[in-house]
Amino acid sequence: MTSPTTARQASEQGRVLADPTAYADNHRLHEALTWLRANEPVTWVDSPPYRPFWGITKHADIMDIERDNELWISGPRPLLLPAEAEDAIKRDQEAGIGLRTLIHMDDPHHRDVRKIGADWFRPKAMRDLKVRVDELAKRYVDRMVEIGPECDFVTDIAINYPLYVILSLLGLPEEDFPRMLKLTQEMFGGEDAEHQRGEGTTEDLMAVLLDFFTYFSALTKSRRENPTGDLASAIANGTINGELMSDMDTLSYYVIVASAGHDTTKDAISGGLGALIQNPDQLARLKGDMSLMPQAVEEMIRWSTPVKEFMRTATADTEVRGVPIAKGESVYLSYVSANRDEEIFDDPFTFDVGRDPNKHLSFGYGVHFCLGAALARMEMNSLFTELLPRLDSIELAGEPEYSATIFVGGLKHLPIRYSLR
Ligand code: HEM
Repeated sequence: MTSPTTARQASEQGRVLADPTAYADNHRLHEALTWLRANEPVTWVDSPPYRPFWGITKHADIMDIERDNELWISGPRPLLLPAEAEDAIKRDQEAGIGLRTLIHMDDPHHRDVRKIGADWFRPKAMRDLKVRVDELAKRYVDRMVEIGPECDFVTDIAINYPLYVILSLLGLPEEDFPRMLKLTQEMFGGEDAEHQRGEGTTEDLMAVLLDFFTYFSALTKSRRENPTGDLASAIANGTINGELMSDMDTLSYYVIVASAGHDTTKDAISGGLGALIQNPDQLARLKGDMSLMPQAVEEMIRWSTPVKEFMRTATADTEVRGVPIAKGESVYLSYVSANRDEEIFDDPFTFDVGRDPNKHLSFGYGVHFCLGAALARMEMNSLFTELLPRLDSIELAGEPEYSATIFVGGLKHLPIRYSLR
């Protein structure tokens, strides 16, 4: 296969990177990624409806790219979308009506905007929030008791808990939570028929964005009139060089916080519990030594890798691992592959609750490193610290099912049977 300019290596295996169904089939996915790491770690992928890109599957290459945020920028193409959707977003952005969140921005604007919310995710804010998070964790474990002895852990528990945490941090009223849940799923689960709106067309996705805009425009107005000391008020009243953020940056901030903090954590929690059930020795080890919880949480996050990819675009001709990459071409950073890289992890396909060190890339790296990483860790810690001591037994009550997505995803159903106090 050739690109317009040079003959490029392009294997069949590279196409998994752009194939949502591959992410619902762990065996097929990891077989291809393992092959790519060994044989073609920088691979050219031309898989319509996506524009071609370079697939990057080695941990070290992803870190090098993310570290150099002048050579590699997010702006033009932060994640993989069909060409038609990329064009629609570009048109909207040029017209000043498109979503432009932190993940779409580059420094120095990115740095200024990130600073506005950053204090709300620092250790002090996390300590202040811990009581509320512990309370919510208890509420959801109690709920498991109420609905037991069987449930679908994803749809009954894991979906709601992180959303409640993040919407509590934002300061939104609890009666709005179900609406936010639906909107974030429609936005992030776009390739999966079960979650998408309508037929999942670009128009459907734009309608989801419009619903977000309508809701958060009203929120900005009310928080500017009456600041209430929550994250939503910090965003609504955030300034850069003494000026309020633009309406679009403000709206985009809400959207990224409400959406990035929710499905991702749900996937890490349910992927973590699924791994504990399928590795009973590791479950017993953790129950027997709860001081392993911080390492266990990291391992659950590595194991599940909820965010599959982000992209960067070259601002100059360059090369990765000796492969020439032209200015304007984009790289797809496969966090899923990096997290199974044999050069970084001993026995990468073993789920080990005591793994240390654990240099996973599930939260990315560099200036865009996940803003909510400490929050996600705390949420998971609280939930499993509440759940495990109360758990007498747990097993699968059906086949776990994975979502078909190339961006954010994981288990969409985890039927379980349990005995819980
Ligand atoms: C286990 C759960 C989570 C995972 C796996 C995850 C993963 C990621 C990844 C991979 C990135 C991009 C990093 C990069 O480009 O290098 C990111 C960015 C981000 N995440 Fe998370 N995230 C999680 C939870 C959260 C939570 C709870 C929040 C809270 C609101 C959050 C908010 C954000 C924001 C605002 C960004 C954009 C940062 C920027 O571009 O500067 N995430 N996350």
